[in-house]
Amino acid sequence: MDIIQYINENAVLIDNHLEQRLHFSEAPARLVEALRYGVIGGGKKIRASLCLATGEAFGVKREDLLSLAGGIEMIHSFSLVHDDLPEMDNDDYRRGKFSLHKAFGGAMGILAGDALLVEGFRFFLSDSYFCRLVGNSKLVQILNILLDALSVEGMVGGQVLDIDLEGIEVDEEQVMNIYRMKTARFIQAPILCGAIVGGAKKSELQDLERFGLLAGECFQIKDDLLDVTQPSEVLGKTAGKDLQQEKATLVKIHGIHGTQEIMENLFQEAETILNQADRSFSLLRELAHFIITRHH
Ligand code: IPE
Ligand code: IPE
Ligand code: MG
Ligand code: MG
Ligand code: MG
Repeated sequence: MDIIQYINENAVLIDNHLEQRLHFSEAPARLVEALRYGVIGGGKKIRASLCLATGEAFGVKREDLLSLAGGIEMIHSFSLVHDDLPEMDNDDYRRGKFSLHKAFGGAMGILAGDALLVEGFRFFLSDSYFCRLVGNSKLVQILNILLDALSVEGMVGGQVLDIDLEGIEVDEEQVMNIYRMKTARFIQAPILCGAIVGGAKKSELQDLERFGLLAGECFQIKDDLLDVTQPSEVLGKTAGKDLQQEKATLVKIHGIHGTQEIMENLFQEAETILNQADRSFSLLRELAHFIITRHH
């Protein structure tokens, strides 16, 4: 199957699943509206696809992973909603529409972000079929992986460094460290989660850990390249923001071509890991290729 078709199909599956289940009778209606605005009907849902594709490589049915993958997309959306806040990247546009705080106000930007984070975990934990299928021991592993990736040594810490190092001279290792923390670990996490549901062996998890981190580094490098090469209309978010805010990026250090080369080398390293694996990871390989060739 064409990988674009696969990604789009998954995005529809995830959106439908979120659409169906994201209703809360006791919650303030405007909060629910904002929460749904933040996650349904926008975004590539690439983290969901990474989770589904990995699970499928281990023989897990896509339908059985929709709660987990949907929850992961909610958690990812929390990070975007907060990333766009005036005190952070101050971006008015996201996914081709107003960012959440622009549409619903600053307080809701904070609170709906909080809600997406918490409800993202509840999304799969409240699915009793999923929990029974996976079992408690694997469920704890999944929770640890997601929480580690989001932790002060992961995304949250990385976002702090991303802001602290604005306008400061940085070297390549510092930038790569920010990329790994703020982005790569939460690209790696859905892959590991899919593998755990599928009962991956320790050695397979180790390979996917290395692959996932490399694919995640490629993901943020490509995001930074797109920021300087694509117009806002294509990105669905404000272009040229990194330069404007003097973000610590590889592009700032190496320029577009140097950065592209680094990304391609990392991709090759990632691809080699999958090529040497006993199992076929063709969808995962194509998703990684999509990550470095995408236009938005
Ligand atoms: C953007 O993520 C934020 C980064 C970590 C670079 P995506 O490019 O996956 O955003 P959506 O979900 O498709 O909008
Ligand atoms: C965001 O990186 C990383 C997150 C953890 C959300 P960016 O700030 O580059 O993401 P965009 O470009 O706003 O989507
Ligand atoms: Mg940011
Ligand atoms: Mg941003
Ligand atoms: Mg960016």
